[in-house]
Amino acid sequence: MIPAAPRPFCDDAKRGEGDHERIIMCGIVGYVGGQSALDVVVAGLKRLEYRGYDSAGVAVLADGGLASTKKAGKLVNLEKALVEQPLPAGTTGIGHTRWATHGGPTDANAHPHLDNAGRVAVVHNGIIENFAGLRAELAERGHDLASETDTEVVAHLLAEAYSSTGDPAEAMRQVCRQLEGAFTLVAVHADEPDVVVGARRNSPLVVGVGEGEAFLASDVAAFIAHTRSAIELGQDQVVELRRESVTVTDFDGQPAEVRKYHVDWDASAAEKGGYDYFMLKEIAEQPKAVADTLLGRIDGSGALHLDEVRIAPSVLREVDKVVVVACGTAYHAGMIAKYAIEHWTRLPCETELASEFRYRDPILDQRTLVIAISQSGETMDTLMALRHAREQGAKVLAICNTNGSTIPRESDAVLYTHAGPEVAVASTKAFLTQLVACYLVALYLGQTRGTKWGDEIRTVVRQLSEVPGQVERVLETMEPVRALARSLAHKNTVLFLGRHVGYPVALEGALKLKELAYMHAEGFAAGELKHGPIALIEDDLPVVVVVPSPRGRSVLHEKIVSNIQEIRARGARTIVIAEEGDEAVVPYADHLIWIPAAPTLLQPLVATVPLQVFACELATARGNEVDQPRNLAKSVTVE
Ligand code: M6R
Repeated sequence: MIPAAPRPFCDDAKRGEGDHERIIMCGIVGYVGGQSALDVVVAGLKRLEYRGYDSAGVAVLADGGLASTKKAGKLVNLEKALVEQPLPAGTTGIGHTRWATHGGPTDANAHPHLDNAGRVAVVHNGIIENFAGLRAELAERGHDLASETDTEVVAHLLAEAYSSTGDPAEAMRQVCRQLEGAFTLVAVHADEPDVVVGARRNSPLVVGVGEGEAFLASDVAAFIAHTRSAIELGQDQVVELRRESVTVTDFDGQPAEVRKYHVDWDASAAEKGGYDYFMLKEIAEQPKAVADTLLGRIDGSGALHLDEVRIAPSVLREVDKVVVVACGTAYHAGMIAKYAIEHWTRLPCETELASEFRYRDPILDQRTLVIAISQSGETMDTLMALRHAREQGAKVLAICNTNGSTIPRESDAVLYTHAGPEVAVASTKAFLTQLVACYLVALYLGQTRGTKWGDEIRTVVRQLSEVPGQVERVLETMEPVRALARSLAHKNTVLFLGRHVGYPVALEGALKLKELAYMHAEGFAAGELKHGPIALIEDDLPVVVVVPSPRGRSVLHEKIVSNIQEIRARGARTIVIAEEGDEAVVPYADHLIWIPAAPTLLQPLVATVPLQVFACELATARGNEVDQPRNLAKSVTVE
């Protein structure tokens, strides 16, 4: 039996003034059904750990009470605690895995948070901006708040609202109407052993519908082992889960329209499948991811059919400027998109870091097409950039890998990449599929606007269809790259050089190395070398050079061969990525990585792969956590 003492089974602690914790990125799971809630929730949290891994916690309803455990650090700490001090068995529960933004990753800051009586448990994604006022009001009404956290305020408000309504969903609606800010919430009440309630504003929350059971989670990966039937919740909706029913309303209690969908991948896609790391699996999946992203978008005659691009052709013909916004790896895909869009459509195209975009008062109007690229569809900077663009009248097309996420929902149209779930924090297959989607959009714009002839499009489409096989071949030849990476594990710095589309590839290679190997890594446009960076070159400094095809723009090739000679003359150890048969680079390469011949614009699809393998192997050699690099989370839902 769960004792009726205040705060049972909860290791929460009192925290100091000003220690206001704000949870913005994390994973949430809720379950009601016939299975052990703890097993389902902990397994779900494992699948969501990519969203944050600073602390984790669970709460289950059992024997008329509520039991909770939470621990700082990775999920494994929580699992250990649950073995040392097992929770009573129950079939309704919630859980949370956290990425700390404000407030350290401590046991006390971990979720769930409980009310004083220990009858309500709540997990939260977001920031309750008016929590201080609400807290003061609760204190006046006699509540004793144990922490300064905004989430704890919600637990108290829910307890209060439930005591007057006796209805957990109505209590949640009442509370949501009082809250300001971002708050995706999932809660249970000890008096309602077969109910989980949730509310969504901003961060994602998806319902899974099973036979006699239902799930709530930040991502379908959390429940994909149990059901592939999902319901996407919209903004400002409250959901009540029971074993046999799912009821969704708006915050005023009006029935809400929801989108039901079938998840088109299964549990094995979200598992390591025999690989040591998700990243290795995801690198290996790239040929299929590229092929899947092309699938169904090209007809027998080689013409493009992007049915999802719901922006009318007449509107696309009026577009006079394209702006691409994205962050991190997706931004590098956007940089490459600029080359393709300008070359194939003759439209001016700017690519901008989403985090900078709206702060510089960009010039946008209804003739601007904004392309927002995001694997997760949740990146806050990209979301804010697209909102700003739409406010200025621009049309927004999202390129996204996550069905039903916020960025596609708020865009005028979406082209989904079909990479399948990407779990490793370092983006790999998502990047390649973002590139494919960018090429398709560029070609589609060219097709719609008449700047590309059908036979030109067919040629590029044919070249794209060869990419899965080419990536496969690259992957088969990676052992020397891995050996090289291991031999460089003691180095402090690696530089990356490229020209044209090879420049963003160099930036991507450097980003991968930074986030995985924690090494100083910089990418430069090779033409900029003599304007400063060449001063960094010293004896035996590894410099990776991405060499464009000698067949395409030979001037680019000649210039980069000169750059290789310049750095080698100053002692650099040159690691050259070049097209098979490019004899011109051989005399100046200390290490050669051959890649299959691809047209200049498409070369990033093959040239990036060795850089991913290189970074992954270096991280392993340096003893780093490959899938969950320090300080990072997969989805950056905070500005
Ligand atoms: O989900 P998004 O594509 O919007 O994420 C953008 C970046 O946070 C992401 O690409 C990040 O740079 C990767 N972890 C890099 O590997």
